[in-house]
Amino acid sequence: MQASTPHWAHVLITGASSGIGRALALAVAGPGVTLHIGGRDATRLAATAADCAAAGATVRPQAADVRDAAAMAGWIANCGRLDLVIANAGISAGTGGETEPPAQARAIFETNVTGVLNTALPAIAAMAAQEPGPDGLRGRVAVIASIAAFVAVPWSPAYCASKAAVQGWAEALDATERRRGIRLHAVCPGYIRTPMTARNSFPMPLLMEPETAARRTLASIAAGRTRIAYPWPLYAVARLVGALPPGLRAALFTMTPAKGRLPGVG
Ligand SMILES: NC(=O)c1ccc[n+]([C@@H]2O[C@H](COP(=O)([O-])OP(=O)(O)OC[C@H]3O[C@@H](n4cnc5c(N)ncnc54)[C@H](OP(=O)(O)O)[C@@H]3O)[C@@H](O)[C@H]2O)c1
Repeated sequence: MQASTPHWAHVLITGASSGIGRALALAVAGPGVTLHIGGRDATRLAATAADCAAAGATVRPQAADVRDAAAMAGWIANCGRLDLVIANAGISAGTGGETEPPAQARAIFETNVTGVLNTALPAIAAMAAQEPGPDGLRGRVAVIASIAAFVAVPWSPAYCASKAAVQGWAEALDATERRRGIRLHAVCPGYIRTPMTARNSFPMPLLMEPETAARRTLASIAAGRTRIAYPWPLYAVARLVGALPPGLRAALFTMTPAKGRLPGVG
């Protein structure tokens, strides 16, 4: 664990088998930390677990599909104390320049919205029943949204809408849950170098390494920020473009390349 990484003793992260989730797991891993990590790919999840254990953490990997509400509730209820839960698992796809296939839109919402609820709701219920920790909080839930939450890109309708949904949900809920000692954080990263963005054939301004994103995310959670959006120049552009009239925004985006569709869908 890096000296600057904030310390939470009991942490759960979904989608820890790859990318940002794996980087978050490695950043919190250390002696005295119990780390519950989820993902569907058992081999990649085991690799993250081994690396986190080598850093001194007690690791409890769980093959968990975030779309399965009952399985997620059962897993989270059996974890014991949870100081920090990060609902990170997500999928991303664009239209390829055409209309988004209905099956793709449903798949994105099921993972990025329902999957986040399937993680955050049982976590909040478990935290409400536990005593406050040394920081005076019962627990923190961070939702990995995206800077895409702030711009309805015509080439990524379901992805942008799914991220807007969880960003808005986490921020609104933070206002009421903090009254009973539970904080929510909406994490909105720009482009991060992971397998998700490796498929992008277009330029990705201010592309960031997952380790940098993880450190930044954890430091901002520890600082108590409700909205964690970075890098700021990309966030500023997203807010500006997002504020344009929809017709003008759509016309602008016809001049930009589209992300590809989900493989095997539509
Ligand atoms: N990369 C970026 O530029 C960027 C920017 C902003 C926000 N984000 C968000 O950050 C999160 C992580 O993305 P990433 O870039 O790290 O992508 P990634 O490398 O593709 O990792 C995605 C993770 O989500 C897991 N996952 C996907 N569907 C799942 C399901 N149904 N159940 C359980 N786990 C599932 C995957 O696990 P398995 O493969 O084991 O199922 C994997 O561990 C996503 O929510 C993404 O939208 C990414």
